[in-house]
Amino acid sequence: MSGDQLSRSEKLYQEALDVLPGGVSRNAVFRRPHPFYVSKGAGAYLYDLDRKQCLDFANNMASLIHGHAYPPIVAAVVEQLQKGTAFTMATEVEVRFAQLLCERVPSFEKIRFVNSGTEAVMCCIKAARAFTGKRKIAKTEGAYHGGYDFAEVSQTANPTNWGDASRPASIPTVAGTPKGVLDDVQVVPFNDSERALAILNESPEDIACVLLDPMPHRAGLIPATNEFVNDLRKWCDQHGALLVFDEVITFRSTYTGAQGWFDAKPDLTALGKMIGGGFPVGALAGRDEVMAVLDPRQENILYPHSGTFSANPITMTAGLIAMEHFDKAAVDRLNKLADYARQTINDAIQTTGVPACVSGGGSMLRIHLKKQLPGEYRSAYLDKQETQLLKKLVDELYVEHIMAINSCSFTLSTVMTEKEIEHLGRALVAAFHKIKSLF
Ligand SMILES: Cc1ncc(COP(=O)(O)O)c(C=O)c1O
Repeated sequence: MSGDQLSRSEKLYQEALDVLPGGVSRNAVFRRPHPFYVSKGAGAYLYDLDRKQCLDFANNMASLIHGHAYPPIVAAVVEQLQKGTAFTMATEVEVRFAQLLCERVPSFEKIRFVNSGTEAVMCCIKAARAFTGKRKIAKTEGAYHGGYDFAEVSQTANPTNWGDASRPASIPTVAGTPKGVLDDVQVVPFNDSERALAILNESPEDIACVLLDPMPHRAGLIPATNEFVNDLRKWCDQHGALLVFDEVITFRSTYTGAQGWFDAKPDLTALGKMIGGGFPVGALAGRDEVMAVLDPRQENILYPHSGTFSANPITMTAGLIAMEHFDKAAVDRLNKLADYARQTINDAIQTTGVPACVSGGGSMLRIHLKKQLPGEYRSAYLDKQETQLLKKLVDELYVEHIMAINSCSFTLSTVMTEKEIEHLGRALVAAFHKIKSLF
């Protein structure tokens, strides 16, 4: 194809390949034969450089709870921009935002803001180690918690290396991960108390925390059961370990996060994505006694922690407005819309007869090209052929002007209505028809 016939995204990607590894700055946007470049977003829609309009269910990887360029956030951020973006001083807005979150969630007695979900999870783990004086962590198999060495163990485990289900192996995600890191992470099966507790009981004296995403996206987007959370909570209490929730994605699930689903509460929670109102953010929140490891008034600070852009007033301003507007009524409305989306997806599956099902909770859903709903990472795992088929489905949805997360997951935003869900339904019927013969 001559240069003139290439789309703008294709042309830009060729230039990007000269300066960015693989032409991208983060793998989430990578697509073959090339990624799409966005020119602008507005509400539930985005527009690529070739002026194609797309209904956005990816919402920057589940971070834009009010869609794109939400006017109240834009107005407040523009005002703050003119007053300065970051200072070597605290600002009032960080206190107001901290108050809002601590008043909202019973388990949040204190909160510290950081700059990403990765950093939030890392800080929770380090705080747990500092508080307990122990070194190991436990996590569920296949769960994605960002890029901290210990948190990412087993994230990409596969049938050739994941070992027996009763004793999942600690598999490195990044080449060169030190053996010491792998040794200090106990991988446990999700929603399987008997096996998980048997593994934890191998070295209870060394485990600082159990890290749990209550509905791990990459491991199937299946909610944890109340029983599993209760059992982990009890085990942590018995053995002086902390229960840490990664709610970077799931905090949208109820007014108080996914932790609102369970009887037991975590000691610490990692937050990110949605609470930044569209700007980079993270936070760790939890029990006063544990958060005290960060307190700089102590003579021997157990966890000296800083961050140049932590709690910067742009993020705090955007986050405060985003969360004020995601009040109880907004959460309820969005979750009802998600019920409608689930029903619409199931109708599309029935109409077309493809072997598929849908998982999820709150305002996030994931389509599996499997007849039976998976229960955890291993049953949700896709082999090469299944991965290709899912990729084809995501590509066909894009043809139908629908942007999904590449796992074929959908996050709703408060600016969506039934109209957008019905568009999704029509697009799915068309896309399922196109891939049906490939099963
Ligand atoms: C559950 C979970 N934890 C942590 C992270 C890392 O967050 P960030 O990309 O902001 O570093 C993510 C990101 O997708 C996530 O989904």
